[in-house]
Amino acid sequence: MGLLDGKVCLITGASRGIGAATVKRFAEEGAIVYANARTPNILDDLCLELSETHNTTVKALYFDVRDEIASKKAVIQIRKETGKLDVLVNNAGIMKDALIGMISRDLMQEIYDTNVFGVMNMIQLASKVMMFQKNGSIINLASIVGLEGNPGQLVYSATKGAVATMTKTASKELAPQGIRVNAVAPGMIDTDMFRSIGDEKIKEHLANIRMGRLGTPEEVADVILFLASDLSRYITGEIIGVNGGAMV
Ligand SMILES: NC(=O)c1ccc[n+]([C@@H]2O[C@H](COP(=O)([O-])OP(=O)(O)OC[C@H]3O[C@@H](n4cnc5c(N)ncnc54)[C@H](OP(=O)(O)O)[C@@H]3O)[C@@H](O)[C@H]2O)c1
Repeated sequence: MGLLDGKVCLITGASRGIGAATVKRFAEEGAIVYANARTPNILDDLCLELSETHNTTVKALYFDVRDEIASKKAVIQIRKETGKLDVLVNNAGIMKDALIGMISRDLMQEIYDTNVFGVMNMIQLASKVMMFQKNGSIINLASIVGLEGNPGQLVYSATKGAVATMTKTASKELAPQGIRVNAVAPGMIDTDMFRSIGDEKIKEHLANIRMGRLGTPEEVADVILFLASDLSRYITGEIIGVNGGAMV
């Protein structure tokens, strides 16, 4: 018996990092997984391999979370094919740093389009299906910097703060419909996104992690799995840190 046997799950931004690790973890636990990426065909091999290994269905859905029409079509497709949607993981996100005084309007727009408007849109689309079935779990990817702030990340931290508060509001609004909404707030996780800050900064950050190492995408995926599964059936509106005791 898997923790997600038969549950239909949509994971955005699954081409690499935390999203890809979550797709693998969910498939291991028996979920029917719809893995989203924006580059056509990039997930085809992984989906085939996971479907065969775990005797389940792992299917790629190619769309950009900034594209409202494509996102809507994707959710409609899931509903048509399976009749339901049990879990949404809003993982797709981008991080671009700039110091105060150097931030362009285009940069603000770009990060907000994906990290905030994309997530709000997916919550609306998924919750419509979940309301109908009176059941569902939505997990959003916030960040330690969205709660604590971090120099150079005015825009990114604000978007992740928005994810944290929208998690709380959505959890309050959707609880009566049987829909749980929670977030994970990772610290410093060893993915392309974190590595993009450069070796010098990584060294500085490592000194501020009490457990003395970066987290792995799999360690975040395990917490997402908990929130997706019925093990967390009485938890909603929570933002769970996954940070090894990091200080920012
Ligand atoms: N790594 C960390 O230390 C850390 C810490 C706190 C929070 N987080 C959050 O955790 C989530 C995953 O981060 P990660 O570290 O795994 O990042 P990552 O390695 O950069 O992966 C990000 C994923 O999001 C996808 N994506 C970006 N924009 C998209 C869009 N418009 N539509 C669809 N997919 C899109 C990327 O696809 P492409 O391959 O097409 O670019 C990629 O698959 C993000 O929300 C991030 O903010 C990460």
